[in-house]
Amino acid sequence: MNDQAERLREIALNVKQQIETEIRQELKVTRVIVVSSGKGGVGKSTLALNVSINLCIRGQRVLLMDADMGMANIDIMLGLVPKYNIQHVVQGKKGLKDIIIEGPEGLSIIPGSSGMVELANLSSSELQKIMVELGKLDGEYDYLVIDTGAGISRNVLTFLLAADDVVIITTPEPPALTDAYGVVKAIARESGGKNLYLVVNRVNDNAEGIMVADKFRLVCSKFLDLEMKILGHVVNDPLVGEGIRSQQAFSRMFPYNVAAKNINDIAGNLISANPRTGIPSEGSSGGIRKFFRKIVDLVK
Ligand SMILES: Nc1ncnc2c1ncn2[C@@H]1O[C@H](COP(=O)(O)OP(=O)(O)O)[C@@H](O)[C@H]1O
Ligand SMILES: [Mg+2]
Repeated sequence: MNDQAERLREIALNVKQQIETEIRQELKVTRVIVVSSGKGGVGKSTLALNVSINLCIRGQRVLLMDADMGMANIDIMLGLVPKYNIQHVVQGKKGLKDIIIEGPEGLSIIPGSSGMVELANLSSSELQKIMVELGKLDGEYDYLVIDTGAGISRNVLTFLLAADDVVIITTPEPPALTDAYGVVKAIARESGGKNLYLVVNRVNDNAEGIMVADKFRLVCSKFLDLEMKILGHVVNDPLVGEGIRSQQAFSRMFPYNVAAKNINDIAGNLISANPRTGIPSEGSSGGIRKFFRKIVDLVK
């Protein structure tokens, strides 16, 4: 009986996801998800990449933008050597479509440029250029996943404030948790209508993942009056490093290990946590155009 109920729930969820995808395609709205953290090196790029690939495997059209202006490395993680990057778009030498490269499972990637002037420091005409280019892609993808740098630099903060969906990654270590809390606090005032998600990376086991996430959620609720949605956790696993060393996404190399299953759960939760189940209104719809319009407003 229980099994049957579970099966029915699964079918209902699949149908719901399919309908949402169709609505989005029909309305040409791309869901923008910004991935960030307080501390560096906690696994933002690893998660952004592997979750993006997982979404592709689920039939979603995903564009992954490497926006860590300090240490762009998504291309290196995949052993790709892009000819052009976002810098060429800013300089007006290339259109965005010219610089997009293809990764595994049909994932589209906007390669980043290390040492580039931070997006928040670009002139408004330069920003406008990126905005117009990105706006053209609205609706061509179901998801735009943006991998940012760590901390609360103006650049990262701008992304976080503009996005409707923000994923904060932390490890269970106190310095990472404290810094993650700092980021959440920095955006707390403006987080109305925003979805804030948490992923705890490099946990010892499920119990630790659940405990750390719960504690973090409680603190945010108590002191910031803010609802943090828990997306899941990823176990600490040497195979993740193995993937990085062989320049492949670990979840594709070792699809049956626990960390890959964790990624699958996170992607599943992200899809089902999609708040835009109905027809999005201008105020809440998101999409790439609205996201970048907000960025331009914030930078001004
Ligand atoms: N779940 C994990 N288990 C083991 N190692 C991990 C895990 N997640 C990330 N790492 C390692 O941590 C390092 C930093 O990850 P990365 O994704 O580049 O972090 P960030 O983008 O936040 O700077 C990488 O060398 C990666 O192999
Ligand atoms: Mg990174």
